[in-house]
Amino acid sequence: MADAGKSVSPSERAKHLLHAELETLWPTQSPELLKALHLLTREGHLNQDARRKLKQVYHFVRLLLPVLEKIHAEVESPTIVDVGSGKSYLGFLLYDLWNGPLGRGEIANIESRPELVANARALAEKVGFDRMRFVDRPIREADPGPTDLLVALHACDTATDDAILLALEKDARAIALVPCCQAEVSRLLSGIPKEPKHPLWRLWRYPLHSREFGSHFTNALRALVLEAMGYKVTVTELSGWEHSLKNELILAVKKPEEKGAPTTSPAREWLADLLRTIPAEPMLVRELRARGKL
Ligand SMILES: C[S@@+](CC[C@H](N)C(=O)[O-])C[C@H]1O[C@@H](n2cnc3c(N)ncnc32)[C@H](O)[C@@H]1O
Repeated sequence: MADAGKSVSPSERAKHLLHAELETLWPTQSPELLKALHLLTREGHLNQDARRKLKQVYHFVRLLLPVLEKIHAEVESPTIVDVGSGKSYLGFLLYDLWNGPLGRGEIANIESRPELVANARALAEKVGFDRMRFVDRPIREADPGPTDLLVALHACDTATDDAILLALEKDARAIALVPCCQAEVSRLLSGIPKEPKHPLWRLWRYPLHSREFGSHFTNALRALVLEAMGYKVTVTELSGWEHSLKNELILAVKKPEEKGAPTTSPAREWLADLLRTIPAEPMLVRELRARGKL
């Protein structure tokens, strides 16, 4: 199953598969892999949950294609690091669609739950995906080695921030984040003194608004941090993600002229301004300030 179909350009093959209807997609891909991932039943059927998961992952990969093409054009054997990889659906499907046919590049999966890592490692061995690696450590303790593209799909709360810190430490060429639940800033907003009233307090007056505004504020800060660190950032909706509320993709690509050079972006000032206006400084910013990076 691994490394099949090298005669077809991986980019063309991946594009073809990703644009096909889901119903006609799996028979041409690797039904055995999808069965092993419990996405297809033994009879080869998809249930609703599996259909949703596949759609999400394919959609995410489709959005990543330009970045994948760029990175694999720049680096002979780049490493994609999937942070908070869970059952490693993303890594397996990416390898199946992209790295396998291309015949180069590694995927490293970081996950703190050892049982998930053990299962995924065994599956990678079984299907012969020999350029997939697994790091069974919390993100903060993990060293995946050189990192060209870091992805974090639904890494919970501050795990997305740990992922950003790791990507910055590794000077990743690109970072793709689909954040998950975000509680930290909501807690920080609740800690802003009630008297005298903050001029904007009505934005986070109710617990629901505090969660929603906290989540929005968190992602706005993340985008500014990445921009301040020399990345070109886009924030888009993951349409086709109908069944999930976690519908935001933050994509950051390192600007070539800024690799290793000081940034000229105004984002650093905008970030400081924003945090002066709303004093809810999350761990990501505190940590980067403590490291002298912001
Ligand atoms: C919601 S799941 C998403 C899994 C996968 N990315 C996906 O989309 O199918 C989040 C995963 O991140 C892992 N995780 C959360 N915090 C982590 C941390 N600090 N270090 C490593 N893994 C973490 C959890 O164990 C869980 O498997």
